[in-house]
Amino acid sequence: MAVGKLLLISLAVGLTAYFFYDTETITPGMVRGKKVLVTGSSTGIGEQIAYKFSEIGAHVMLTARRAERLQEVAKRCLQLGASSVHYVVSDMGNLTSAQHVAQEAIDKLGGLDYLVLNHVGGSGSFGYFQGDMKDVLSSITVNYLSYIQLTSTALKALEKSQGSIVIMSSMSGRIGAPFTTNYCAAKFALEGFYSSLRREFSLSKKNVSVTVAVLGYIDTENAVKKVGDKITMTASSKEDCAEEVVKSAVLRRPELFYPYWGIKPFVLFRDLAPTLMGNILDKFYVLENIQ
Ligand SMILES: NC(=O)c1ccc[n+]([C@@H]2O[C@H](COP(=O)([O-])OP(=O)(O)OC[C@H]3O[C@@H](n4cnc5c(N)ncnc54)[C@H](OP(=O)(O)O)[C@@H]3O)[C@@H](O)[C@H]2O)c1
Ligand SMILES: *[C@@H]1O[C@H](CO)[C@@H](O)[C@H](O)[C@H]1NC(C)=O
Ligand SMILES: *[C@@H]1O[C@H](CO)[C@@H](O)[C@H](O)[C@H]1NC(C)=O
Repeated sequence: MAVGKLLLISLAVGLTAYFFYDTETITPGMVRGKKVLVTGSSTGIGEQIAYKFSEIGAHVMLTARRAERLQEVAKRCLQLGASSVHYVVSDMGNLTSAQHVAQEAIDKLGGLDYLVLNHVGGSGSFGYFQGDMKDVLSSITVNYLSYIQLTSTALKALEKSQGSIVIMSSMSGRIGAPFTTNYCAAKFALEGFYSSLRREFSLSKKNVSVTVAVLGYIDTENAVKKVGDKITMTASSKEDCAEEVVKSAVLRRPELFYPYWGIKPFVLFRDLAPTLMGNILDKFYVLENIQ
């Protein structure tokens, strides 16, 4: 009996410590000279992730569609301390281009340690599904298939370096949220593919880590423009978000929930009380502003 109580108490203490004191930290030495590809790095969270990796001395490869933006981000990366910076302009709506981006990163950097898959686009406006197949196809291509293509092309290099794959998911990759059918579908698909791939790496003793970042609402320019007047949630900081993503990647953690308390409870209760969960989440939408 006493032993049982003791176990219970240590469990409670352990859990409290686990949740409240995140003591593991990363040092620049863990990343200096590592080779990193960040997709969708012309703005938003991807841009901030590139800065965080630069601050700790990584070699950085940037990619997105806008050359001028990438040039500016590249300049800043160098100022912040990146060991080197390259960029390649590319549209992820084309899988041949996605393949080219991964190959270019491996060639220019001389290998790859971190594949950070972050870009997002092409899923249409935030609103009711009205049967538009064009948006379905473009979301699946840009937000899902191109991720798999990049992974496929980079796989050998990542196995060789015992590297890491980082996937940007969302609460919409765990719970069906309204007005984002095409985006939700792509994120759920990513979660399926990469959780399966993680098991395969483990079973085949391949030392490649897979980190899935499950994000809430983050204050990037594009996100705020798209949903700012349509949901009543408060956006979290993209700088903090990027810092947590890089930390989780470097520590080879399987998952990150950011902001933790904004997401984890919903994910936990999803299967226990789905109707209640749906009703609570519905309250965050400003239906008058949604078409
Ligand atoms: N912000 C949030 O509230 C939030 C919440 C949950 C999850 N997330 C996830 O976090 C990640 C980053 O989000 P974010 O808000 O930082 O996005 P963002 O600010 O809209 O940035 C998207 C990036 O992807 C690039 N991109 C868009 N379409 C592209 C295409 N067809 N080909 C190549 N690149 C393309 C954009 O650059 P160009 O326009 O120059 O191509 C940009 O660099 C995404 O995976 C997103 O799903 C974000
Ligand atoms: C995709 O990109 C390749 C080369 O990057 C190009 O040759 C091809 O025409 C593109 N395909 C489409 C459908 O735009
Ligand atoms: C896996 O790779 C990481 C990073 O390269 C390394 O620190 C770790 O020791 C490796 N683990 C095994 C079991 O080889």
